Amino acid sequence: MQNESKTIAVVGATGAQGGGLARAILADPSSGFAVRALTRDPNSDKARALADAGAEVVRADLGDPSSIEDAFVGAYGAFCVTFFWDHFSPEREKAEARTMAEAAREAGVKHAIWSTLEDTRLWCPLDDDRMPTLMGEYKVPHCDAKGEADAYFREAGVPTTFLLTSFYWDNFIHFGMGPTPGPDGRLGITFPMDDRALPGIAAEDIGRCALGIFKRPELIGQKLGIAGEHLTGDEMAAAFGRVLGQEVVYNAVPPEVYRSFGFPGAEDLGNMFQFKRDFNDDFRTSRSVEFSRELNPSLQSFDQWLQANQSRLSIPEPAGTSS
Ligand SMILES: NC(=O)c1ccc[n+]([C@@H]2O[C@H](COP(=O)([O-])OP(=O)(O)OC[C@H]3O[C@@H](n4cnc5c(N)ncnc54)[C@H](OP(=O)(O)O)[C@@H]3O)[C@@H](O)[C@H]2O)c1
Repeated sequence: MQNESKTIAVVGATGAQGGGLARAILADPSSGFAVRALTRDPNSDKARALADAGAEVVRADLGDPSSIEDAFVGAYGAFCVTFFWDHFSPEREKAEARTMAEAAREAGVKHAIWSTLEDTRLWCPLDDDRMPTLMGEYKVPHCDAKGEADAYFREAGVPTTFLLTSFYWDNFIHFGMGPTPGPDGRLGITFPMDDRALPGIAAEDIGRCALGIFKRPELIGQKLGIAGEHLTGDEMAAAFGRVLGQEVVYNAVPPEVYRSFGFPGAEDLGNMFQFKRDFNDDFRTSRSVEFSRELNPSLQSFDQWLQANQSRLSIPEPAGTSS
């Protein structure tokens, strides 16, 4: 019964990671968990859809610590995530992580999941000039800030599983990374990864893996990585080619070229891809596809994700073919 279920307070419940977790719990009544969806706007369409599906929806804002404390009260678990690409500020990300860690401690949360990434400075210190230092104290700001924030959960004594996520394949839809025509008219995807494999995942599967973690309290204290597949640029391009029915090529550009592309976050992402390339063994070893499938038996492969999302890919027409 709902009122005997253990409540999971889900930060970002109207977004990709938290939304996947909220939907996974709502779709699995036998899990023994109930969803408390945190949102800044309970009246939004996404928040209403969660309420209609059985979630408790509460107003909370990471910029207002008391609202997070209130939202965590009485919760068994908390899914904690920050939103770097909304503001591009590692300092804000760290402050918001601290807010969640302290709220979880105050509320006596029994199991938190912190959606983190590597602090890349542990592999590539600031004085290592293979990639530029950004914002004075980071190599990959959106990763380093999350990794640094791991300490806040430990220091607060919160029983936490540290979840290392992977590149969302959804970036091919929402982040402008999908196939685009090159000067020769051929569709291409562009990364500075050389021939190294990139662990990737369907964003929806992150939340399903998180539910698998909440079901296994013995995973408290561990740092776990998840991925749906590890694929090279050529392998991803070939998969695109199969689903689109036309050739797609992989453009392996040097990281310094990617950093110079000029879009917001290009330097951060250029360094991120270079980190994944240069420390590929460590990065991949911490993201087991087999373990991810244990946590989430419906884990999608890239081909499955592409098939399911084909209609959402917006592929530009090659020059000269539109009417
Ligand atoms: N893209 C990738 O490949 C990738 C890979 C690994 C990790 N990540 C990380 O994933 C994180 C983003 O997670 P996501 O993709 O799940 O985010 P998302 O889909 O952009 O979801 C954002 C949700 O968070 C809520 N939100 C935003 N600001 C908030 C605030 N101040 N207080 C409370 N809620 C707030 C919003 O909900 P309301 O509007 O309803 O309040 C929004 O729906 C980033 O930090 C990124 O670095 C991304």
